Amino acid sequence: MDLRSVAVLTALSIAALWTGRAIAQQGAAPRSGKAVYDAHCVECHGETGKGDGSAAGILVPRPRDFTLGRYKLRSTETGSAPSDDDILQSVRQGLYGTSMPAWDRVLSNEEIQAVAVYVKSLSPIFSTNPPKPIAAGPSVPSSPDSIDRGKTVYERLQCAKCHGSDGRGAGAVTNEFKDDWNQPLHAADLTEPWTFHGGATARDVYLRFRAGMSGTPMPSFDGSASDTEMWDLANYVVSLGRKPVWSMTADEVSQLYARQDAEARANPVKRGAHLVSALGCVLCHSSYDEQKRIRPGTQLAGGLVIRIEPFGEFVTGNLTSDKETGLGNWSDDEIKRVITKGILRNGTRLLPYPMDWASFSTMKPEDIDAIVKYLRTVPPVSNRIPPPKWKPLPAHLWGKFKMLILGQDPPMAFFPTPAAQGGR
Ligand code: HEC
Ligand code: HEC
Ligand code: HEC
Repeated sequence: MDLRSVAVLTALSIAALWTGRAIAQQGAAPRSGKAVYDAHCVECHGETGKGDGSAAGILVPRPRDFTLGRYKLRSTETGSAPSDDDILQSVRQGLYGTSMPAWDRVLSNEEIQAVAVYVKSLSPIFSTNPPKPIAAGPSVPSSPDSIDRGKTVYERLQCAKCHGSDGRGAGAVTNEFKDDWNQPLHAADLTEPWTFHGGATARDVYLRFRAGMSGTPMPSFDGSASDTEMWDLANYVVSLGRKPVWSMTADEVSQLYARQDAEARANPVKRGAHLVSALGCVLCHSSYDEQKRIRPGTQLAGGLVIRIEPFGEFVTGNLTSDKETGLGNWSDDEIKRVITKGILRNGTRLLPYPMDWASFSTMKPEDIDAIVKYLRTVPPVSNRIPPPKWKPLPAHLWGKFKMLILGQDPPMAFFPTPAAQGGR
């Protein structure tokens, strides 16, 4: 499993713990669109569809706000609504490379149809600007000639400004963008087609740059090249795709890793930011409100209350660079000792739950260095965290016995952060 899947699973299991709601059941009687939505979509897309569900704060990119009617994946002209098929396809196959799951194996066809109708009812765009399908000409079969022509179109339309001359950022003006919701966004790495949200066939790629991706800086190139040139361009982009790791030979894999290692060494802070996000540190080390959303400005400032039966109640620490209440005065080694050995600054040992320091300890030393380097750059947020409340010794010993001898995981529950708290 890659890091992103781990982070998504952590997010989903935390969401399930919050609500005590079980994962979908198959073969149940068809439900109304709203019932399907309330059971499966609210945690991310929010009760009123504003993209502010309980898991939203920790997801990058953020879940779509359906009320604005801005859709990334359209086969329709800019400014018009997506078609029914566009929405159905997003729901069926999910958005690759994001936390938006594929629902075709979880929901019946009727339920998918019903929830799509419900999602459409959340925005007026479907009546004010109904879908205007793009009239695509016949596709051009891929060939070395078509790919060569496509390369010149890529240069002429200046895709390289954002995607780089090699499709992975070389010489790009910038690769750090914000979407309309002020969330950070990267221009897709065109050599990793499995991360394209809307799929990686020539037709998918053609539609993305022909229609643009609403809500993001990825523009529409309508009218800037002939239809045949656009198909050539799509063939060129498809040709940039490198082999995914799972179909590489051992030699190819080691070359790729050597290159990625060199890049990580060249920019440890960026690597650290990626690891901190992928390993779900923000998920636990932030404060939550009563609606179980991360309180604005508290990312990595700690405060989530975690009750672990029968051990007691633990509040996650402030990982920002604040000198009084965060890690500002901790040495690098002190931080590394917590992450890899579970030993706090005052010598207390952490339980192996919920922070999985045992598995963090298997990370490469460069990666652990990178995490520390990145944490040093997180702007200080003053948030004093109360000390843990350990239960009395017998309960504690019984808990250890169950965990270590009987091999049972202690039950965990998460609680929002009380508005004011004082302590360590
Ligand atoms: C685990 C979180 C999560 C759950 C659960 C979830 N979504 Fe999403 N969804 C997302 C994210 C994140 C995006 C935006 C991805 C992006 O911007 O690239 C998204 C985007 C979408 C889009 C927009 C596609 C576009 O063209 O912009 C649709 C439609 C959608 N979701 C429908 C649903 C429906 C229906 C359900 C419930 C059956 C659901 N989602 C459940 C996270 C989720
Ligand atoms: C102004 C910057 C910019 C320019 C110019 C630009 N792109 Fe993009 N592109 C982006 C961003 C940002 C994304 C990521 C959007 C997202 O993840 O939601 C993206 C995403 C993509 C994707 C992935 C689609 C998917 O399904 O996720 C493809 C393919 C793509 N661009 C191709 C192109 C091509 C071809 C051109 C030139 C014709 C081009 N882009 C020009 C910024 C740009
Ligand atoms: C599943 C929840 C969870 C995740 C994920 C998690 N932590 Fe923790 N972390 C905790 C808890 C709980 C504590 C201990 C609180 C206590 O008992 O003092 C803790 C303590 C720490 C401490 C000690 C600081 C202090 O004041 O307690 C550091 C440093 C730390 N974690 C770093 C990280 C880093 C870096 C990551 C990501 C690589 C991470 N954590 C991921 C839950 C988590």
